[in-house]
Amino acid sequence: MDAQTPVPTPVSAPLTETLTFPPDFRWGVATASYQYEGHCENSQWRAWEKAGHIRNDDEAGDACDWWRNAERDFDLAQQLGLNALRLSLEWSRLEPRPNEWDSAAFARYREMLQGLRARGIEPMVTLHHFSNPLWFEEKGAFLAADAVPTFNRFVARVVEELGDLCDLWCTINEPNVYSVVGFLLGAWPPGRRGAARSAFRVEGTLARAHAAAYQTIHQRQPNARVGWAQNFNILDPATSNPLDRFVAGVQDAAYNDFFPRAVLTGRAAFPFNLFAGDLHAARGTCDFLGINIYYRERVAFDLRRPGELFGRRFVPADAPRGDSDASEYFGELYPMGILRAARRLAVFGKPIYVTEHGVADRDDRIRPWVVEQGVRAVHEALKEGLEMRGYYHWSLVDNFEWAEGWQSRFGLAALDLATQQRTLRPSAAFYSAIAQANALTPDMARQYVSNTSTR
Ligand code: FCB
Repeated sequence: MDAQTPVPTPVSAPLTETLTFPPDFRWGVATASYQYEGHCENSQWRAWEKAGHIRNDDEAGDACDWWRNAERDFDLAQQLGLNALRLSLEWSRLEPRPNEWDSAAFARYREMLQGLRARGIEPMVTLHHFSNPLWFEEKGAFLAADAVPTFNRFVARVVEELGDLCDLWCTINEPNVYSVVGFLLGAWPPGRRGAARSAFRVEGTLARAHAAAYQTIHQRQPNARVGWAQNFNILDPATSNPLDRFVAGVQDAAYNDFFPRAVLTGRAAFPFNLFAGDLHAARGTCDFLGINIYYRERVAFDLRRPGELFGRRFVPADAPRGDSDASEYFGELYPMGILRAARRLAVFGKPIYVTEHGVADRDDRIRPWVVEQGVRAVHEALKEGLEMRGYYHWSLVDNFEWAEGWQSRFGLAALDLATQQRTLRPSAAFYSAIAQANALTPDMARQYVSNTSTR
């Protein structure tokens, strides 16, 4: 599972042959409750907004208005010819107070899942996508002693109420992002900075929560397919200098490798094992791997950065990027990361889904290239014999991008927040053509990508 030396990019030349996909391949979009539903008043993210932590003082507000009308976007996904959609359940709605359940909220999710199925769209349901109920956050969230049974009680209830409508479950979204941004960078709730021990403790607890959820779901639904969504930030050494290689390897082990290793082996590597707690229950707890891929960064040895394990991360000036006013954390766009991450996860011998891949790009300047290169990377992985089962583009519609608020626009469709009007970007037509043909042809690439600027 270790990082390999960078591979040359095999898909950079123009496409000359049609790439076809297996008949049951899933073409989807990925979404998340807090970012789409609007007015999740009971979430710690709402409190974080009110405390003024979001860029431009933005608020999620109505977001994409899904709580009232997700069906408008389900229609859109259907019109685009998609056969899959990843959405999350808002724990803070379903369990507004400890062990008190909101039957109307369950009913609304039933309606949404039925709505997807009626449109021929398979749901993948995420149980935790960054958002916590306020009461859970207030007692320490995943640092609390009873975090695992508390989350597991929620999972059990969800499977009992909604299990007849979903059998493809993503337990936790990006446990590494949740712990690093919340406890090392301090940009997300709970806003701790440099709290490395807590970050690894939280990620260890998330691994135990994932493992408990895996067992709970399977007890109630033997045929369920359960996985999690792992964020990979490809971290390549700045040069072939041994110090650069060493620090890139250490950062990679801390960020990319921790959770997959826990699930593969039931252990953490030294020194993370000192803080992560007992992980043996996590071993073998996945039926598929979900990979969320966006960026690559280069890492150079730097004595002035002990807090970042002596590695300074940077993006070369000529690297392809999304909007220049988007977050400093958004690195070099690197669709080939899909192939590299999939190769790393081959050791599991399980199906792989790209559970997120996309770009903040208001004017659709580079998104067609991101879609094309991502799809080519998936096909390359299939050719290598990897079990790629689906690709979920992030995202269908512009949505509330966490600390970046409404500044970063990730949608295949643009959203006018005031009118809720959607306007398809050219990438939507491109992605739709791929999904409907279950193939990427040279003509499609020529039509949609040739004018794209990667700078
Ligand atoms: C991922 C998150 C998702 C979205 C994209 C842009 O890290 O899982 O919610 O914010 O980034």
